[in-house]
Amino acid sequence: MRAIPQGLDRKEAELYAQLDPDQFPKHVAIIMDGNGRWAKRRHLPRIAGHRRGVESVRYVIETASRIGLPAVTLYAFSAENFLRRPPGEIGFLMKLLHRYLKNELPLMQRNNIRLQFIGRIHELPQEVQERMAWAKEQTVRNTGMVLTLALNYGSRSEIVDAVKSIVATAASNGGLDHLKIDEETISRHLYTSNLPELDLVIRTSGEMRLSNFLLWQVAYAEIYVTKTLWPDFNGWHLLEAIQEFQKRERRYGGLNEPAAPGSHPTPHSHTK
Ligand code: FPP
Repeated sequence: MRAIPQGLDRKEAELYAQLDPDQFPKHVAIIMDGNGRWAKRRHLPRIAGHRRGVESVRYVIETASRIGLPAVTLYAFSAENFLRRPPGEIGFLMKLLHRYLKNELPLMQRNNIRLQFIGRIHELPQEVQERMAWAKEQTVRNTGMVLTLALNYGSRSEIVDAVKSIVATAASNGGLDHLKIDEETISRHLYTSNLPELDLVIRTSGEMRLSNFLLWQVAYAEIYVTKTLWPDFNGWHLLEAIQEFQKRERRYGGLNEPAAPGSHPTPHSHTK
């Protein structure tokens, strides 16, 4: 019988045993939604939902790492959250993140997780930026799963930043006359350039939207929406999403012969 990774609880182990480890997604991204609704249902302030959301983050990344996923990206705060939420809630989320990065470091180290960030980080409060730089540096030598936190992130601004970066690189490298732009060039200048191709996007709490998250990267990904609210989501739910992923037939625009398009910078090795 196939070995079950250490650390899974009984329910997770049962579900894991039904999966095909050769067909795991290489990169899973999660839109963590529903903290406010979770709190409201319990007549609690919204911040109680965010606090509980941090526990879900812990369960999910620990299970993801135990089962050997190479990359997980979490949409922690969108650029729109930053502009549109009341300052008190933003302040709370910043404090939560500041504390999170310190408190969760032992978990990252224990699980050999490398932490990185995407988004317009320079617009975040200085002390949060410093803590982020510190946490990243502490985990830079880890060789396991890459955990990417999207903070003050928006996909359209990512694409704008990529285009600016392409032009700036060309300008300092022989001038714009030689500028050649194709899909690979754009992928290389996105914040996610070091990550495997995105395979699976999970959204909690039932909304059927991508909310400006990884719009370029999502091109061939499977999308899984669950009604479960983020604070109720855990490692078992992640395995359930992977089970659903393994049932889907991925065709990349072709017919029954699955093959990632040649233009993919990092073609999937597990097409099904
Ligand atoms: C969406 O719920 C969640 C957020 C805007 C914040 C996500 C933050 C966390 C899960 C905790 C912090 C994470 C880290 C990594 C420190 P919502 O408030 O939009 O819920 P609603 O749609 O029900 O109102």
